[in-house]
Amino acid sequence: MSLAAGSIAPPMALLAELTHRCPLQCPYCSNPLELDRMAAELEADVWKRVLDQAAALGVLQVHFSGGEPLLRRDLEELVRHARSLDLYTNLITSGVTLTEARLASLIEAGLDHVQLSLQDVAAENADRIGGLKGGHRRKLDVARMIAAADLALTLNFVVHRQNVANVPEMIELAAALGARRVEIAHTQYYGWGLLNRDALLPSAEQLHVATAAVEAGQSRHAGRMVIDYVTPDYHATQPKPCMGGWARRFINITPSGRALPCHAAETIRTLRFPSVQDMPLAEIWEGSEAFNRFRGIGWMPEPCRGCPMKEEDWGGCRCQALALLGDAAATDPVCTRSPRHDAVQLALAASTAPAPEFAYRRNPR
Ligand code: FES
Repeated sequence: MSLAAGSIAPPMALLAELTHRCPLQCPYCSNPLELDRMAAELEADVWKRVLDQAAALGVLQVHFSGGEPLLRRDLEELVRHARSLDLYTNLITSGVTLTEARLASLIEAGLDHVQLSLQDVAAENADRIGGLKGGHRRKLDVARMIAAADLALTLNFVVHRQNVANVPEMIELAAALGARRVEIAHTQYYGWGLLNRDALLPSAEQLHVATAAVEAGQSRHAGRMVIDYVTPDYHATQPKPCMGGWARRFINITPSGRALPCHAAETIRTLRFPSVQDMPLAEIWEGSEAFNRFRGIGWMPEPCRGCPMKEEDWGGCRCQALALLGDAAATDPVCTRSPRHDAVQLALAASTAPAPEFAYRRNPR
C-alpha cells in the first residue's frame, strides 16, 4: 500500500539510537541481536542533518538512546543542536557513566529530561540482571544527582518474573529519589528479550499482584508522582497499538542510520529499511515502501479488517506476529480473535516452569 506524499501526519517523536555500545548487559534489551559496530555509527554532522530534517518534518521530541548514549562524546553537541531547533530533548540512559561535570554540560546544552533505568531495588539482584557489579549503587547516586540539579527525571523499571515481586518497593524508591514519573514496564519480547523470554515472562499470578501494586501506588502518590504502567502483551486479550500504529507517530534511527518504524522492525527481513545517509527523512516517512507497508488499515487481513477496534489498536504488533507466527502480516496472535492465539498460550506455559539462565546481551565487537 502507498499513500500520496504530503498526506501523512508527521511523526511526533524521533528515537536516535546513537550507539549500540553499553556498559550493561540486560537480558531484556530491545536492541537487535546483531548490533551495529562503533565504526558504523553515524558522525555528529549526519545526526545534525537528521535533526534538521526531523524538525522540518514536524517532529516535536527527540529521545537520545542506545545502547548507552553517554558513550558518545558528541552528545552535548547533538542536544544543543536539537534545542536550537526547538526539539524537546530526552536522554534515555543507564546512568552508570554519568558524572556531575557531564550532567552540568548536558544541562548547559539544553537537555530537558532524563529517563534513568533501574534493574531492581536491591543491589545484588539489580547487578545480576544488569550484568554490572556496582551498577545499582552508581545509579542511585546518579538519580540523586539529577534530582538535585532539578532536571526532570523519570525512573524506568523493566519488570519480569525475576523482579516483579518488588513493584511496591520500586514505586517507593522512585518517590524517595525525587522522580516526577516512574515507569513500571513489563518486558516486551523483542531482540534479547525474545531470546530470554522463558527466563523473563511472568505468570498470570505474578502479573495480577504487580498490577494491584501499581494501582495502589497510583492512588497513594496521586498528584505528586505519575506512575505509568506497561503491561505484558502475552497476558492480554487484545493487542496493543504498537508504537501508536506502524509509522504513525514514531521514527527510530539506528546507530548506523537505518530508519525504522519501531525498534524491532529489522527482524522483518522482507522489508528494506532506507538509510538517512541515502534519503531525506520526509521521503522515508512519507514515501518509502517499508514505512507504508503496514501503515493504516489497508494491509489488514481478516478478522482485523472487519474489527471495530482496528483504528484503535492498528492491528497490534507486526514484529510480534512475525516472532510468534513467522508472518509479519498476520493478525497479532495476542488477540483472542486471532486463529493462532494458541501460539501465545504455548509461550505462556513456560512462565510457570523453572526459569533458565539468562543469555546476557553482549557488546558489538
Ligand atoms: Fe515492531 Fe511492534 S515492535 S511493530
